[in-house]
Amino acid sequence: MKNRRDFLKTACKPIVIAALGIPLLEACATEEISSDNSSDYISDDSGRAPLTIDLTNNSFSNLQEVGGWMNYISESLLLVRISEEEIRVFDNRCPHQGNRDRWVYDGSEFTCQHHNNSFSDTCGGSLKCYTASLNGNALTVSFD
Ligand code: FES
Repeated sequence: MKNRRDFLKTACKPIVIAALGIPLLEACATEEISSDNSSDYISDDSGRAPLTIDLTNNSFSNLQEVGGWMNYISESLLLVRISEEEIRVFDNRCPHQGNRDRWVYDGSEFTCQHHNNSFSDTCGGSLKCYTASLNGNALTVSFD
């Protein structure tokens, strides 16, 4: 068995660093992204026409139940049913690096599975939130 000095001389540096408990990466953080470069991925939707979604269409059946959600990829939107009266709508572009396609939802946060960053389902967080109004089964999204 090698003693500690021999181990440190012969082991590769990443193993030594990991053995000493020094974190190598912070890519798996679950906190909101607030770095300056996150603004690089904010969409400019000015001028985009309002979108009306018929929630009786089977494509939106996940939104019938509170807590249901979907990634509406063709319109670049994340939608989540907050209550009987409210559906929140977000840009599905990840604030981290802009990916749109690998979201999961746990009831309060969306997690982008590209690097496992999580974002609150509240408007005012890192995900761009759009104005959405629900009138019966018609959801209208404005992109002002
Ligand atoms: S692109 Fe990195 S967490 Fe979404």
